[in-house]
Amino acid sequence: MIRVLARDLKHHIGKSVVLKGWLNNTRAFGKMTFVILRDRTGFVQVVIENKDEAQKLSGLQPGTILTVHGTVATSEAHLGAEVIHPTLHINVPIKEVPPLEYYKPELHADLDTLLDHRPISLRARQIAAVFRIQAEIAHAYRLYMHDHVQAVEYFAPNLIGASSEGGAEFFNVDYFGHTATLAQSSQLYKQIMVGVNERVFALMPFFRAEPSQTSRHLSEGKQLEFEMGFFDHWHEILDVQEGCIKFIVAHLHAHASAELETLGNPLVKAPAKVPFPRLTFAEAQELYYQRTGVDERSENDLSPAAERELCVWASETHGTDLVFVTDWKTSKRPFYSYPSDTDPGLTNTFDLLCAGTEITSGGQRRHTYESMLEGLKLKDMNPSNFDDYLSIFKFGMPPHGGFGMGLERLTMTLLRLKNIREASLFPSDPKRIAGNRIKAHVFAGGENIRNEIIRLLKQGKCEYQHLEHEPTPTSEDSARVRGTRLEEGVKALIVRGKNTKKNYQFNVPSHKKLDMKAVQDAVGEKCEFEEPAVIQERFGLVVGSIPPFGKLLNLDTFLDEEVLTQDRVAFNCGLVTESILMRAKDLATLTDAKVGKFSKT
Ligand code: 4AD
Ligand code: MG
Repeated sequence: MIRVLARDLKHHIGKSVVLKGWLNNTRAFGKMTFVILRDRTGFVQVVIENKDEAQKLSGLQPGTILTVHGTVATSEAHLGAEVIHPTLHINVPIKEVPPLEYYKPELHADLDTLLDHRPISLRARQIAAVFRIQAEIAHAYRLYMHDHVQAVEYFAPNLIGASSEGGAEFFNVDYFGHTATLAQSSQLYKQIMVGVNERVFALMPFFRAEPSQTSRHLSEGKQLEFEMGFFDHWHEILDVQEGCIKFIVAHLHAHASAELETLGNPLVKAPAKVPFPRLTFAEAQELYYQRTGVDERSENDLSPAAERELCVWASETHGTDLVFVTDWKTSKRPFYSYPSDTDPGLTNTFDLLCAGTEITSGGQRRHTYESMLEGLKLKDMNPSNFDDYLSIFKFGMPPHGGFGMGLERLTMTLLRLKNIREASLFPSDPKRIAGNRIKAHVFAGGENIRNEIIRLLKQGKCEYQHLEHEPTPTSEDSARVRGTRLEEGVKALIVRGKNTKKNYQFNVPSHKKLDMKAVQDAVGEKCEFEEPAVIQERFGLVVGSIPPFGKLLNLDTFLDEEVLTQDRVAFNCGLVTESILMRAKDLATLTDAKVGKFSKT
């Protein structure tokens, strides 16, 4: 007997079939047990009446791999078919409870939790749907470029010698003792390939050292790249871009309707008959000003608010969620941008905005050797880093241009997702690498910790004093040798959760006691003081020397609000013979501490 997939079950009514898949969930109802099985095409209900068969699932969790032999019957629910009289075979029993209830129809977890358990959360139907749609977007892009534009796909390197986009947003890596750069785009290579094939495209990884944590920036993503040579007017690039988006949207309606239904969000509006409006940058600024009264007309970029408003305008007045903005100022565009014939301060470049966010940048490129050298010099870039690239202009390049469209931005905006991380399988950003939280750099030992605190103070340009003194066993001794008041001293206490055994740090004024009830409320479990011997072993610190910088020990850190009533604070900085005096408000900032009421008298 051959395996039948969930999707095809309805064509096998009355037949004996084999199903294979993952146990999604079970539900007992009187003498019956209903099992939902998941396979690559969807879900099947299996109805068990036999006690021995039901018993086989006892204690098994979602994720268990099953083979089911049974008979197909019609069913009101579940796409018209279900399996009855089954015999179950457990291929891989799973007893561990999953960290997330990914198998339920509704997902009740925040984005951070979903990312913390990424390999498992990807199994949730709403999340899986996003990435199946993303696969269809990429597939449609290839189809469009290959079949309609007759462009040739290229595969460019990601490890390159110099930044292609200028600016500071690139990562360097150590390459056999040399410095290599991770490509921010395949810009230079796609131009080189125009010299070979005229029209080229690629799906390329890109890397951006974008330090800010926003809902639309990733450190790693994919760009849908395109470049073409020979045109009568550079707006032909915009025509390709527009045709491409409309093709992708039509493709999704035709090939991803089930996934779109699972998501429940309507796709963005891009009706085939409505041209995307094309505004110049100056017109876009003026329009934003006219509609909102917010005057950004002297800026050289559009704010996120202006991008949103322009898309609202396109939707209201044209019935499409997309709008082009063209003719950007030279100062905002990369060295390779073609200068406008009519205004030397402008470039033949564009951005495409979709449902409030930039998804594409593109434009015409400089195409003579002299012009390209001029472009590099204007941006203070070193031409000798670009020898290979520059050679193409010596040996003949036609007028050309193209665009780079972010796959994650496109997925996010087409599907109206709120955060770009929802459109990346394993997102990297300043807090995560490939989905995993970046572990804090942990310091051990008094000297190391003291050095790091001083480094942080200097880096933050904070006012501080560093004192060396006799050992100070008590808070009163400390205040005396430091010449500070008792209330200015901060006592750093390390506690241990009774359930989790996890350590936390609480910092309170030296003349106060830790309120264990408040501690319990703050961390969600009863706590007790950690043993001095354990602190010594784990952190290399003797009790009395611990500074209120729990984050250097990788501890969740809490700061009593009363500490902040002082202007200045003082504490031992890892050694009983050394102290730091600094501003209380800087302490709160530098330690990322959660502030609350944790002390009592
Ligand atoms: O606007 P960008 O930087 O333009 C280029 O890379 C040019 N080489 C394009 C060209 O052909 N002239 O990047 C292009 C697109 C952006 O519009 C955005 O969709 C995406 O790539 N992108 C990012 N997406 C997420 N996170 C980031 N940090 C991104 N940086 C760029
Ligand atoms: Mg851009």
